[in-house]
Amino acid sequence: MRARLIGTGSYLPANVVTNSDLAARGIDTSDEWIIERTGIRQRHIAAEGEMTSDLGVVAAREALNAAGVKAGDIDLIVVATATPDHTFPATATSIQQKLGIGDCVAFDVQAVCSGFLYGLGVADAMIRASGHRNALLIGAETFSRLLDWEDRGTCVLFGDGAGAVVLRAETGTKGVLSSKLHADGAHRDLLYVDGGPSSTGTVGKLRMSGREVFRHAVKNLASVVQEALDLAGLKENEIDWIVPHQANLRILEATAKKLGLSMDDVIVTVDRHANTSAASVPLALDTGVRDGRVKDGDLLLLEAMGGGFTWGAAAVRW
Ligand code: ACO
Repeated sequence: MRARLIGTGSYLPANVVTNSDLAARGIDTSDEWIIERTGIRQRHIAAEGEMTSDLGVVAAREALNAAGVKAGDIDLIVVATATPDHTFPATATSIQQKLGIGDCVAFDVQAVCSGFLYGLGVADAMIRASGHRNALLIGAETFSRLLDWEDRGTCVLFGDGAGAVVLRAETGTKGVLSSKLHADGAHRDLLYVDGGPSSTGTVGKLRMSGREVFRHAVKNLASVVQEALDLAGLKENEIDWIVPHQANLRILEATAKKLGLSMDDVIVTVDRHANTSAASVPLALDTGVRDGRVKDGDLLLLEAMGGGFTWGAAAVRW
């Protein structure tokens, strides 16, 4: 028994903010700098009052439609987010209520940008061990709420959005073939939010040492991808698509190069979505599925790294 991915969905807020829009708002930056250093051209920003659960619920409905599964058949909801609607209850239970789903298991996973990989590992393990039949796995974020718009080194990098996947318990050869996760709390100061309910009592703002994070990301991603392949007994040249966390085009290029793959094998959305943290992997997956690049039987390599540090990779047969 394993989790097979049978339908995807996504949602991006209507408000598109380009790099030039940011410069026009008085941030000391330029379209050229942002594109050259990150590959980002624009990001979507949630409207006032639009919460993470609102984004997640639209993506979830799309994924349910694509999978042909009724909301009432869902018995597990996992939401990966670092920007929950409230400190509690979990955003997963808000989405459960908005979808009209009755008694099931629903909780949030907090691993920042690696949240979707953590959620996939947990949901797959629960499907294998606890008899869940149909699960909703959602990555949803309103990172714009955590940004310090005075800090040009971070505020240009992130956006809001949600992606969702329906997982079904199956015994065949499709689905999650391997999942490898890591965390190392020693690097907390390189990427963190300077607030929270039990420290400052405020939400806080994102703080990052970009250059250091970049260095760790390239090293950790290359090794965890290898581990996920080894666990599944696969080789790099069997990968049809890398579906990476979308932080920076240069990180995507460096990871592809280390695997001996070309950028034609990578699903890229960072140019249009920027970094949407836990939402970026399912948003990229949905993009590749809907435009027809991801085909029946393809081998997908999902990977992400984020605050903590946390990082992970999964080999998935589509
Ligand atoms: N516009 C113009 N100039 C800027 C901007 C900006 N938005 N931001 C920084 N600069 C300036 C800096 O002040 C600095 O100027 P100085 O040389 O006069 O001091 C110069 O640009 C270079 O700054 P660096 O931070 O050294 O630039 P770098 O090439 O490292 O690029 C970046 C910065 C894009 C943040 C890069 O380090 C990066 O992408 N790191 C990865 C971080 C990341 O992706 N984090 C997301 C979460 S973790 C994850 O998802 C993997």
